Amino acid sequence: MHADARRERGAVAHGDDVLARPVRGGRRPAARVSRRGTVGLTPLELLAELPDLPRFDLPEELERLYGGGLGFPEPCVVANFVQTIDGIVALPELERSNAIIADGSEGDRFVMGLLRAAAGAILIGSATLLSSPTGTWLPEKAFPPAAASFAELRRRRGHASPAEIAVLTTGGSLDPAHQLLERGALILTTRSAAPGIRASVPAASEVVAVSDGDRVDPAAAIEALRRRGHSVVLSEAGPNVFGSMLAAGLVDELFLTVSPLIGGHGAGEPLSLVEGVALLPESHVRGRLLSIRRQGEHLFVRYALR
Ligand SMILES: NC(=O)c1ccc[n+]([C@@H]2O[C@H](COP(=O)([O-])OP(=O)(O)OC[C@H]3O[C@@H](n4cnc5c(N)ncnc54)[C@H](OP(=O)(O)O)[C@@H]3O)[C@@H](O)[C@H]2O)c1
Repeated sequence: MHADARRERGAVAHGDDVLARPVRGGRRPAARVSRRGTVGLTPLELLAELPDLPRFDLPEELERLYGGGLGFPEPCVVANFVQTIDGIVALPELERSNAIIADGSEGDRFVMGLLRAAAGAILIGSATLLSSPTGTWLPEKAFPPAAASFAELRRRRGHASPAEIAVLTTGGSLDPAHQLLERGALILTTRSAAPGIRASVPAASEVVAVSDGDRVDPAAAIEALRRRGHSVVLSEAGPNVFGSMLAAGLVDELFLTVSPLIGGHGAGEPLSLVEGVALLPESHVRGRLLSIRRQGEHLFVRYALR
C-alpha cells in the first residue's frame, strides 16, 4: 500500500539518501558531473543576503553551486528542513516522504549535502531514523555529483572522518536493527533507558545517558556533542525534536527549503515544521532573515533564530 502510493507519486525508490528524482510531471535531468569535472546543477540564485556573514573556506565548486559563500558563527546548532508552501514537512505514514515534500528538488539535495559536509555532528530523532530505513546521513549520498567537493570541504574544516550521527531516543521508536547502528552511531538517551538500549543495539554504536526523566533533555544532548568536540551541530531531526530544541532556545539557525507544493490536511496526519510544543501567542522564537536563494520554483531561506 505504502509502496504503491510512493510509486504513484514517483518518489525515490532507493532510499532517502539518494538524489531525489522529479516526483511530479516532467523529466528534469538528474545533476551530473561533466567530463571537465563540474557539476551540471543549475546554481542557486542569490536573491538577498545580509553582508558580513561568516564564510568557511568552501571549495570553488560548492561556492558556485550555492550561489555564494557559507559559514556559521561557532559553536552553533543549525537545523535543515524542506516544507511545502503550507508548512508540511512529513507524511509519517510514508517512508522517505521528504522526497515527495521536496518535489524532486536537486537544489534541496545539494544544500542538504553541503550542510552535512560542514557539520561535525548530525542530530536526528528516532522517528526520523525509522522513516529512512537505508539512511546514512552522508553528504555524498544526498548529492553524489559533489562528493569530491564535499570531501575537500571536510578536509579544509579539519574533519578526518564523516560527521558523527547522534540519535535522540528513549528507546520507544528506536529500530535497533537499522543499518546506521550497525555501522556505528551515537545514541543519546536517558539514564533509565540506557541499559536496555545498550543491550539491544550493535556494539559499533555507543550509548550515552545524558539526562534523567522520561525524555532526552535536548540541552544535555547538545552539551554531550560539544564535549565530544563538535562545534557545528546540524539537526536533521523531525519536527518533534526540533520543537523541543526550539522551546529550549537551542537552535541558532534554520535552513528552510520551501517547495512549490501545497499539502493540505485531511487523510493521514501530516506533520508541520514544529510539533509537540506551542510557541504562540507569546513565542520567543523569531527568525531574522539571513538569506534567500531560489532555484526554479523552490526557495531556500536561511534564518537566524537567536
Ligand atoms: N521535511 C524535512 O525536512 C524533514 C526533516 C526531518 C524529518 N522529517 C520527517 O519527520 C518525520 C518524523 O518526525 P518526528 O518529529 O516524529 O521525528 P524526530 O523528531 O526526529 O523523532 C521524534 C522521536 O525522538 C524521540 N525523542 C527523544 N527525545 C526527544 C525530545 N526531547 N523531544 C522530542 N522527541 C524526542 C522520541 O522517540 P522515543 O520514543 O524513541 O524516545 C520521539 O518520538 C519522518 O517522516 C521524517 O522523514 C522531515
